[in-house]
Amino acid sequence: MILRVAIIGFGNVGQEFARLLLSKRDWLLKKKGLDVEVLAIATRSRGSLISKNAIDLGNVLERLKDGGTLTDFGPETTKEMPIGIIQKCDADLMIELTTLNIENGKPAIEHIKAAIDCGMDVITANKGPIAFAYHELRDMARSRGVHLRFEGTVMDGTPIFNLVEKTLPGCEILGLEGILNSTSNFVLDQMSGGRSMKEAVAEAQRKGIAEADPSLDIDGWDAAAKITALANVLMGADTTPRAVDRKGVGEITVADVEVANAQGKKIKLIASAGWEDGKVKLKVEPLRIGSEHPFWSVDGTSSALTLKTDLMGDLTIFERGPGITQTAYAVFSDLLLTVESIRNGTL
Ligand code: HSE
Repeated sequence: MILRVAIIGFGNVGQEFARLLLSKRDWLLKKKGLDVEVLAIATRSRGSLISKNAIDLGNVLERLKDGGTLTDFGPETTKEMPIGIIQKCDADLMIELTTLNIENGKPAIEHIKAAIDCGMDVITANKGPIAFAYHELRDMARSRGVHLRFEGTVMDGTPIFNLVEKTLPGCEILGLEGILNSTSNFVLDQMSGGRSMKEAVAEAQRKGIAEADPSLDIDGWDAAAKITALANVLMGADTTPRAVDRKGVGEITVADVEVANAQGKKIKLIASAGWEDGKVKLKVEPLRIGSEHPFWSVDGTSSALTLKTDLMGDLTIFERGPGITQTAYAVFSDLLLTVESIRNGTL
């Protein structure tokens, strides 16, 4: 089977996904009978490509090294905007990897709608669309008979959505609690070693884990978008990150961290979802936790999520020290699950 793909947004995650496609090419052909051809790539400021035939990903990655562009790639270079690229290319599946817009999730939501309108399956690692418009996008995809997957929106490729969907049938999610923002967790950890917040944020940026605008991490917006996406999908909420009762780590000082440590506590940015007066209530707040807490050892860039369920009690899943490969794997695993569903004729 040949799967033709358009990638909209081609920063760190998109480029790592392209590397993964190249390194797994033989495995995909041999084990899965799958040939993935990329027919379009859209970047925000470094040029875009659209082609009738598979684009040479090795060449694309080489050109983008050291700040290079795709503006003189050859006849494939296009000045089309993402929506035009989606509408004009012959892809079967669109992968949305543009950056988070915390105001309203656009234009990623529009990219996804355009792809669904064209009858494409969709994978996104962008939290915005699932945090702002999950129900609308899900209903659109269902009525058009296409797939929509989004594992990479929370905790990279760690199975959360797929875990619940595939392995917990009939189990109701009653609540959620997680350390979902790696940057804040890393910064708090560094501050407990005496480093200033500014230095720690700069280090998180060097590691490539901070958002393009790191205030989205520090002010709790990234965690708010993630807990909203989780609650919308797993608890049937229909809300947006703007409704989250949100406090980030921006006002925490090295002295606060030191006092907590001296008292045998750690400060962690915790996102939670639970039912209150018949409504799902979402919170993001720095909390002091003790060594009895399941998140005590979640340090550095690690994350964790507890699913509070009716039939299985509390289930906690940890992701230890993720890097960009784990985020790209989310897209890769969603792609394989989409292909499996296409082959089985299921949605
Ligand atoms: N900025 C995000 C974080 C990246 O720090 O968790 C992963 O979504």
